[in-house]
Amino acid sequence: MDKNFLNDFPILRSKMNRHQIAYLDNGATTQKPESVVRSICGYYGGCNANPHRGVYELSVRATKIYEDARRKVAKFINARPKEIIFTKNATESLNLVAYSYGLNNLRGGDEILITIAEHHSNLVPWQRVAQATGTKLNYIYLNADGNLSQADIDKKLSNRTKILAVTQISNVLGLVNDVKKLAAQAHEVGAVVVVDGAQSVPHIPVDVQNLDADFLAFSGHKMLSPMGIGILYGKRKILEEMPPFLSGGDMIEYVEEQATTYAELPQKFEAGTQNVGGAAGLSAAIDYLQGVGFDNIERIENDLTTYTISELKKLPYVELYGCDAPNKVGIVTFNIKDVHPHDVATILDAEGVAIRAGHHCAQPLMKFLGQNATCRASFYFYNTRRDVERLIEAVQKVRGIMHIA
Ligand code: ALA
Repeated sequence: MDKNFLNDFPILRSKMNRHQIAYLDNGATTQKPESVVRSICGYYGGCNANPHRGVYELSVRATKIYEDARRKVAKFINARPKEIIFTKNATESLNLVAYSYGLNNLRGGDEILITIAEHHSNLVPWQRVAQATGTKLNYIYLNADGNLSQADIDKKLSNRTKILAVTQISNVLGLVNDVKKLAAQAHEVGAVVVVDGAQSVPHIPVDVQNLDADFLAFSGHKMLSPMGIGILYGKRKILEEMPPFLSGGDMIEYVEEQATTYAELPQKFEAGTQNVGGAAGLSAAIDYLQGVGFDNIERIENDLTTYTISELKKLPYVELYGCDAPNKVGIVTFNIKDVHPHDVATILDAEGVAIRAGHHCAQPLMKFLGQNATCRASFYFYNTRRDVERLIEAVQKVRGIMHIA
């Protein structure tokens, strides 16, 4: 019997449109357990000061909270603390790599290879870098089951490829890419591997040394932490050779009128006052996730995903995307024939069921799928089979409400 997680997440006991909420938008952001909320309040209530700057005790305490969080994140993904850069979110982490690494290491004739399933955060920055450097942006397309086409990878990955940027789990299809294999293949041609881990790190164990990723970006808020704290992991040697992304306070060694030398890692990439409250929340979130355990997280999400797909498959007017491959984690994307996804989401909202509808910040993928938009239910370990039943009951009402026979 699984723990009743609702005791730790008061928001999941709250109502939406007079129904208890069935929160199925975890791909967008997750809810926060009380321990995380307490850690943020504890920081602001008892330890708030600017880290790294003051010699007084409060500032030293803030510094310790911030640097302890860095050590915890490093251990969580099997990295070293100097390789962990705190950012605002996964988007900023990916922009840091694109502008600091990409802009300075690419030249005409080089190629950047990404997949058609990328979130805009791992696509638009590369488009801009490609335009600025005169490099070519290539795409890996998908097989009919939604997985990356190995034939396309073999065709497009060449010694012209300088960067391979790939999501570990698509935020639309929920399919897990074999990043370890991709990284090995990319390293053979000398490409640097950038992994978008926004949808993977919260749901499956991620070990950067085992994957041999050069960079990994993820967000705290999709793994129980507050919004406004993101993480970039980078291999030390590569980070050391990169110029700063943002400049200002705390990232310097010496500043003279016309020139500056920079601080060592990781401070070189952390300009300005950082989000210490966010780091405190992230630290408590990692403790909570480790308490639940990834075995349980994967088992629960797998059960909910399989159950949802089998129930939706019984409805002849539902079209599913990427739901026939086995390497699937916690995300079910679908459409109801003849109903716009925004209407579906609005009708579900009236039933207390929260899903996301739209292009999911993945317009090229939508175009590839031949859709303008889809509905997406995305799970976390605190969801239950009852949430799935509520989703299915609400989906069954949609066409009737829309007066479709
Ligand atoms: N990236 C988030 C999502 O997929 C916002 O919903």
